[in-house]
Amino acid sequence: MKLSVFGCGYLGAVHAAAMASLGHDVVGIDPVADKIAMLSAGRTPFFEPGLPEILTASLATGRLRFSTDPAEAADADVHFIGVGTPQRRDGAGADLTYVDQAVADLLPHLKPGALVVGKSTVPVGTAARLAEPIARAGGRLAWNPEFLREGYAVKDTIEPDRLVYGVADASREQDAAILDEVYASAIAARTPRIATDYATAELVKVAANSFLATKISFINAMAEIAEVVGADVTQLADALGHDSRIGRRFLNAGVGFGGGCLPKDIRAFAARAEELGRGESVAFLKQVDEINLRRRQRMVDLVVDSLGGRPHGRRVAVLGLAFKPYSDDVRDSPALDIAVRLHGLGAVVVSHDPEAIPNSRLLHPQLAYATSAEDALEGAEVVVLVTEWNAYRELDPVETAARVARPVILDGRNVLDPVAWRAAGWNYTGMGR
Ligand code: UDX
Repeated sequence: MKLSVFGCGYLGAVHAAAMASLGHDVVGIDPVADKIAMLSAGRTPFFEPGLPEILTASLATGRLRFSTDPAEAADADVHFIGVGTPQRRDGAGADLTYVDQAVADLLPHLKPGALVVGKSTVPVGTAARLAEPIARAGGRLAWNPEFLREGYAVKDTIEPDRLVYGVADASREQDAAILDEVYASAIAARTPRIATDYATAELVKVAANSFLATKISFINAMAEIAEVVGADVTQLADALGHDSRIGRRFLNAGVGFGGGCLPKDIRAFAARAEELGRGESVAFLKQVDEINLRRRQRMVDLVVDSLGGRPHGRRVAVLGLAFKPYSDDVRDSPALDIAVRLHGLGAVVVSHDPEAIPNSRLLHPQLAYATSAEDALEGAEVVVLVTEWNAYRELDPVETAARVARPVILDGRNVLDPVAWRAAGWNYTGMGR
């Protein structure tokens, strides 16, 4: 099939390359010339395992190309909208500027009967609003939310765990059939598929992210209680997780969630519910956000306490900057936020991350960045693990003890073995254990 993808950021670039790897003829459109030049040369503007490989392979077959010119999308039968919907500057709600602009750029080039497919995460009601101008231009609109996780984006796009199509009543069968053709390999693999209305499709995405965020904040709330009574939140999560109705995934307590999706999506959802006069229905999301942000401060407090209340001039090694491992993304990252707060208290913070230093440096040039974990650890009075990269999980407690000035470690992701670290002479503190 001939496809276009508007937006070549995280979502769009992955989608374009993944669709081309499935055999479609794809053009990615983005107004940022540098991004288009990079992608056309087979380079990715961000770190995502597996993406460079499918990008270069698809470029080589000629099935994938990129352009800044929306007219290049004119012969496509299906146009995906995969632009960002960042948090608005006023903090409330999603900024739909890029979605509106992409649709406006596309409409003059739409051929009759073409299907426009929204993938961006949008406030419920957006699809209904966009369907009208698209219909006037001779096209139709579907909403097909994307559930990809950073670090697993290629796999999640090619082998999704479900497909959700929000389609117009009048063209339900026809539009679902077109999307089935796009995702033929997933359909063949019997991926569950739900064809529904626009509003439900839009809600599935924000509801899923709200649920995941709530699950993390729930266990972090339990961590707060566990800290007071001396219980172990990791064992609590294991015990809860054995109940198949609850499940163990997304019950890892620590410094909380960050990234380009969960934090902004719960805030945007709360703002949209407020606009709809249903603010009270998701009022709990405000607490989910508050619990999450409290965990960062809790870690800062633990560091300050471990330095006897006097952080000024003291050397702190911060292991991790990305919001999670296998990513170079530092948007709303708890790890980077903690490093910045400690620096603000006068501590000599030396951070390390295998992938996220360039992005961190752009945002916070005032921080010190080490080129290796070993360098960050050298002479540290406290070690703070805040992103659970394998390299940090596998640190040897005996070797590490030889590098630092004081063997004090704060495990912000509860991934180290307290017994082994304590046996090697460390003062180990996890979060809620
Ligand atoms: C998320 C959703 O998982 C994905 O379906 C959606 O499309 C986009 O948002 P992503 O932002 O890539 O994906 O990250 P995810 O793996 O969900 O992790 C989000 C954050 O939660 C990370 O900061 C992670 O460290 C944190 N987290 C996750 C926890 O603190 N505890 C957990 O148990 C799980």
